[in-house]
Amino acid sequence: MNCPVERTFADGQPHYGEESGVKKDGTVAHWIVRTSPIRNAHGEIVAAMEMSLDITERKQLEDKLEKSEKKYHEIFNNIPNPVFVLDFQNFEIIDCNESVKAVYGYEKDDVLSRSFLDLFLAGERDRYASKIQPGAELTRVKHINQSGLPIFVNIRISPAEYPGKKVLLVTTSDITKRLETEQQLIQASKMATLGEMATGVAHELNQPLSVIKTASSSFIKKMNQNEPIKGEILLSMLTKVDNNVDRATKIINHMRQFSRKSDMDLEKVQVNEVLEKAFEIFSQQLKLRGIEVVWNIEKALPRINADPSRLEQVFINLLLNARDAIEEKWKAQEVAPGDKQIVLKTYCDGQHVVCEISDTGPGVPEALADKIFEPFFTTKEFGKGTGLGLSISYGIVKECGGHIRVVPHEPEGARFILTFRLPNGG
Ligand SMILES: Nc1ncnc2c1ncn2[C@@H]1O[C@H](COP(=O)(O)OP(=O)(O)OP(=O)(O)O)[C@@H](O)[C@H]1O
Ligand SMILES: [Mg+2]
Repeated sequence: MNCPVERTFADGQPHYGEESGVKKDGTVAHWIVRTSPIRNAHGEIVAAMEMSLDITERKQLEDKLEKSEKKYHEIFNNIPNPVFVLDFQNFEIIDCNESVKAVYGYEKDDVLSRSFLDLFLAGERDRYASKIQPGAELTRVKHINQSGLPIFVNIRISPAEYPGKKVLLVTTSDITKRLETEQQLIQASKMATLGEMATGVAHELNQPLSVIKTASSSFIKKMNQNEPIKGEILLSMLTKVDNNVDRATKIINHMRQFSRKSDMDLEKVQVNEVLEKAFEIFSQQLKLRGIEVVWNIEKALPRINADPSRLEQVFINLLLNARDAIEEKWKAQEVAPGDKQIVLKTYCDGQHVVCEISDTGPGVPEALADKIFEPFFTTKEFGKGTGLGLSISYGIVKECGGHIRVVPHEPEGARFILTFRLPNGG
């Protein structure tokens, strides 16, 4: 059927075909044939010439290639993370794997030929356009899925060759669940801290309340005795009442602000101010326990990029740990002045703002120096510590571009050192 020789005899034209057959040794062979007519002096076709070219090897290679392409396509599709192939210049999505559907909800056809930037929030596209480049790693990026809901992803971008053109290979991993869990943990630990703060706040509120009480009692007494109250005394007392109401309001607002659930919000922060705010709540409590606090502060500290309310949580955790460590060490010992001490030190070393919190507790054994930052590690008795304080502090400091470590094995107590890189331009 379809024999090129017969067709050449029939129409006098050259023909072409591909044929397969079995060789003498039983293996399958493939060849291409070309035919052309041979004419006599009158122009009649008297013969046909057939040339065959063995292409068995090429056929086998093609088969292999197809299988191998299939294999890699399978792998590409079965990678659990979404993978996008982007045009190098305009970030158009040329190809993507099946995991895109699972994570983003989009069918492949929905995203092909669209720009990868369409997955970003409308207001952030310009900003990210310049960051999409070979070798880039973008963390905690907000993408919008098919239902219009935000998801958080980490993105890795690498250069690659696609048949005939340069492309970007983009892998994203969905970290929404992880972030949600982290948020819940942070909030849980914050609530635990808030419980501790309540005691401190009670002490703090006592003072303004007693001023107000003194003033009101004195007025009542004078009124009962029909004694006139001089205008200037009235004014001075009411001013005191007013000031102390303000003070109480400030303390309450501070608590409210602290307990609010908030996304990480980086802004320019003066570490000293945050440290003072964290300390404010515990000042009375520490005083009552005979713990002296020494301030060793560099006044003109440059600002760093951080979330002030989260950073305050870190300092509160560290202060509470210092308080517990000191109590632990000195509970059964004779105490001399200066024995129970927390030293707060801040300084700038040119590239970093450094904050040190030292105490005169038992210190941290060398073997535990890393372990204490692990979640749920605690040496405190059951019901007292959750072991979350330091692990959450570690995460927060890292998010603020900083680092926290403990200097182990100091006989005089523990020293926690927090280092924050200065933002560009100081
Ligand atoms: N200043 C310190 N001195 C000595 N040991 C410390 C100090 N700070 C922390 N540690 C050790 O690290 C452990 C973990 O601290 P972390 O703040 O993470 O949890 P916790 O204080 O035990 O509990 P939580 O803070 O959740 O109430 C503590 O149990 C303690 O053994
Ligand atoms: Mg703690």
